[in-house]
Amino acid sequence: MKTIKNTITALFTGTLLSVLLVSCADSQSPGVEFMPDMYRSSAIEPYVDYNFPDSATTLQSPENSIPRGYTPYPYENTIEGFELAGQNLKNPLQLTEKTIEEGKLLYNNMCSHCHGKKGKGEGTITNPIYGSVPSYLDKIPNRRGNRAMVDLNEGHIYHTIMYGLNAMGPHSSQIREQDRWKIVAYVQILQGKDPMNVAKATDVVIEADSLK
Ligand code: HEC
Repeated sequence: MKTIKNTITALFTGTLLSVLLVSCADSQSPGVEFMPDMYRSSAIEPYVDYNFPDSATTLQSPENSIPRGYTPYPYENTIEGFELAGQNLKNPLQLTEKTIEEGKLLYNNMCSHCHGKKGKGEGTITNPIYGSVPSYLDKIPNRRGNRAMVDLNEGHIYHTIMYGLNAMGPHSSQIREQDRWKIVAYVQILQGKDPMNVAKATDVVIEADSLK
């Protein structure tokens, strides 16, 4: 009886050992994959040939593609672009007391250190290159030469936030689109206007000849 038991145990151990040995034979094979998603990423991996025509796995975006959520800004950083923005751009937000309050907060965080909380150029930055921050109430021509600060409309202000001007850097990468418009509305308040009932009548162009 004992010998039969021993023989069965020996046979069983022998089979198990050979199965184990055979399973190690192909070092390239992963064997049974339990939850293959854990091993194989569905994302494209670098240095793997996926049979793309030029064998590149990091492909260039097609021409003119834009990142998701990004709105292209079609006006150039020129006087013409500034004027076109002034003509065409209108605040897309439904302005309420709350949006204006948010605009004030954003303005105080992003602009007031140079332009001052009242927008009269009384910011806390004292470096001489910021010594001549104009007041939003100025009636004299701005440095672009064709408008008074008080006459800049919503498009002009938006354009300035996008590109900056001279010592003022561009702010488009720091401020989201809708927040820029909230700031624009608050700057209009500092210009003495009512952005909820926009006074476009003050939008007067100063002729270059009359500047002397
Ligand atoms: C680093 C200081 C600084 C910051 C920050 C700054 N500005 Fe200015 N800003 C200036 C200066 C200086 C000028 C005048 C530039 C010139 O005329 O050469 C100016 C000019 C302007 C003008 C007039 C543009 C024109 O056509 O003459 C507007 C409008 C304006 N800023 C709005 C803003 C708003 C809105 C913010 C906040 C998002 C802001 N600025 C942040 C320094 C700054």
